Amino acid sequence: MSPPNGHKSLWLVLLFGMGVMAKSLNCPVKCTCQYLEVNCTGQQLQDFPTTIPLDTRQLILATNNISYLPSVELNFLSDLVYLDCRENAISEDLDFAFISLNKLIYLDLSFNNLTRVTFTTFSQLSSLVVLKISDNPNLVEIEKDSFANNTWLRHLDVSRTGLTFLDISIVKDLPNLKSLGLSENLWNCNCSFLEGFFCVSSTDPENISCYSPAALHGWSMPGVESKLHYTCLLHLHDTDYAFLGLIGFCIFSAGTVAAWLAGMCVVLYEFHTTRGGNDEDEDEDEESSASSAKHPEDADGYQSCFLFCIHLLPSPSVKSTAC
Ligand SMILES: *[C@@H]1O[C@H](CO)[C@@H](O)[C@H](O)[C@H]1NC(C)=O
Ligand SMILES: *[C@@H]1O[C@H](CO)[C@@H](O)[C@H](O)[C@H]1NC(C)=O
Ligand SMILES: *[C@@H]1O[C@H](CO)[C@@H](O)[C@H](O)[C@H]1NC(C)=O
Ligand SMILES: *[C@@H]1O[C@H](CO)[C@@H](O)[C@H](O)[C@H]1NC(C)=O
Ligand SMILES: *[C@@H]1O[C@H](CO)[C@@H](O)[C@H](O)[C@H]1NC(C)=O
Ligand SMILES: *[C@@H]1O[C@H](CO)[C@@H](O)[C@H](O)[C@H]1NC(C)=O
Repeated sequence: MSPPNGHKSLWLVLLFGMGVMAKSLNCPVKCTCQYLEVNCTGQQLQDFPTTIPLDTRQLILATNNISYLPSVELNFLSDLVYLDCRENAISEDLDFAFISLNKLIYLDLSFNNLTRVTFTTFSQLSSLVVLKISDNPNLVEIEKDSFANNTWLRHLDVSRTGLTFLDISIVKDLPNLKSLGLSENLWNCNCSFLEGFFCVSSTDPENISCYSPAALHGWSMPGVESKLHYTCLLHLHDTDYAFLGLIGFCIFSAGTVAAWLAGMCVVLYEFHTTRGGNDEDEDEDEESSASSAKHPEDADGYQSCFLFCIHLLPSPSVKSTAC
């Protein structure tokens, strides 16, 4: 029993040792490698290191001078969970940079020279939870639906970029988003922007200020919020007008029916009273019961008409609430 077991453990030790040796041999120059982690912080690297172990989970390239993330080399690292590229000079189009990194949870691209984010840039990063693209002064565009496939995203930071507008649909459909950094951009605070802003609690509202329109220049978010909430919410859509018209029509027709029923009652009453004087008391009794029977009917008509209107209510109200 002991000899085969002993053999096994010997082999395991040998394999483990070889693995460790292979890893230490593979560690890129100027970088330190620990178990599944490669750290190349602050080494003035001009290029992406080429000999990174393929099973690396955490790759730190912060504070270098890397301008390009090579798609092929980066996508060999398909186990990567954590990628830190802050403070580099990355300016390339990143559309094919992350196509097989579907385990990536943390991605830091802050303090670079990104110019735009498109739908394909992060679309394959379906596990992404933290995305930092702040401090990219030339980042002027984030395409609609850029984060449509990043449903786990919890923290998104786009502070201090060249953005002036963020489309509401970019953040609206992210069910897990908990913090959105928007500070110190030259925001165009129109209603679409504010609607988006109210949907997500931002981390630093006092540092978010408007650049345009001129009337709001320099205003920071907490103040603008109350000022423009009113203006933007009063905006009625076509469906709202149609709905108000329908309500009006319902009230009008219910009133007409009620008037007609009242008229009928009067006519019937007059008919009965002129027909015979003997059994007037009985007639009156009959009449009062008849009219009291008419009234609930009348109320029923009103009620069903209102119920009909109220059934129509949810569709426009859902459309007008943004979040
Ligand atoms: C990476 O290395 C830098 C400097 O060598 C160090 O300051 C930093 O803490 C390291 N990061 C990690 C996650 O080990
Ligand atoms: C970064 O690289 C550029 C050329 O790609 C070079 O001009 C610049 O001096 C480098 N900066 C540092 C800090 O190494
Ligand atoms: C950033 O990219 C732009 C072009 O997109 C380029 O003109 C500029 O020199 C770059 N800046 C740095 C610091 O690399
Ligand atoms: C969204 O993510 C899934 C899962 O990783 C992937 O299969 C799909 O291709 C992605 N969609 C797009 C449009 O990239
Ligand atoms: C707000 O501004 C952006 C661009 O700055 C524009 O695309 C959008 O249509 C504007 N929305 C409204 C309601 O004016
Ligand atoms: C707001 O901006 C100031 C100055 O830039 C900074 O010191 C502060 O930390 C920022 N606050 C938040 C919550 O980011």
